[in-house]
Amino acid sequence: MQLLKQKIKDEGTVLNDQVLKVDSFLNHQIDPVLMQEIGREFAYRFKNEEITKILTLESSGIAPSVMTGLFLGVPVVFARKRKSLTLTENLLTANVYSFTKQEENPIAVSGSHLKNSDCVLIIDDFLANGQAAKGLMEITKQSGAKLAGIGIVIEKAFQDGGSELRDLGVKVESLARISSLANREVSFTEEVTV
Ligand code: G4P
Ligand code: NA
Ligand code: NA
Repeated sequence: MQLLKQKIKDEGTVLNDQVLKVDSFLNHQIDPVLMQEIGREFAYRFKNEEITKILTLESSGIAPSVMTGLFLGVPVVFARKRKSLTLTENLLTANVYSFTKQEENPIAVSGSHLKNSDCVLIIDDFLANGQAAKGLMEITKQSGAKLAGIGIVIEKAFQDGGSELRDLGVKVESLARISSLANREVSFTEEVTV
């Protein structure tokens, strides 16, 4: 997605070989016009999958998910990372290992919002090692819903998550795929256009 790649080039900061900071439009301040285009693009890429629900993880997955839900005309459910006072019954849970924090954290969704009749599109802001995506897949599995695929805003293709998910046979659509962050520079993977 050209608009997104240009935004990353213009406003992204490479913190080190592993981490890209995109706080001005995705992770802290949010650019609604860009999010709208991201939503339009995900909706287009998954238009034939008969999606009934979008599943994401708080907090940075919510903005692109809501825009996609708007275009597809389906609700968005976000998994919570912190315990909720009201979210107590019928919980679907998974543990997500964080490489950055070196700890496992539980995520949870109420079974009232995810049914075995649902067809789920998982969306997240970043794909690195794939731990968050795997946790969301586990929750989808527990609900009995069908998984249509995974939409990722920025994939760091030099980390293992993307290839592991695709090896499982999951349809993974990433709007920007970064091949390297070496030398404080963002390089994108070549895209095959037909
Ligand atoms: P993984 O799920 O693919 O295994 O990712 P990992 O554990 O490495 O990432 C933990 C957090 O860091 C996630 O956000 C993820 O989106 C984010 N992250 C991973 N790589 C990058 C990166 O290069 N740049 C930025 N900006 N973020 C990255 P989170 O803790 O769930 O936070 P939130 O922003 O969704 O609240
Ligand atoms: Na995230
Ligand atoms: Na994040």
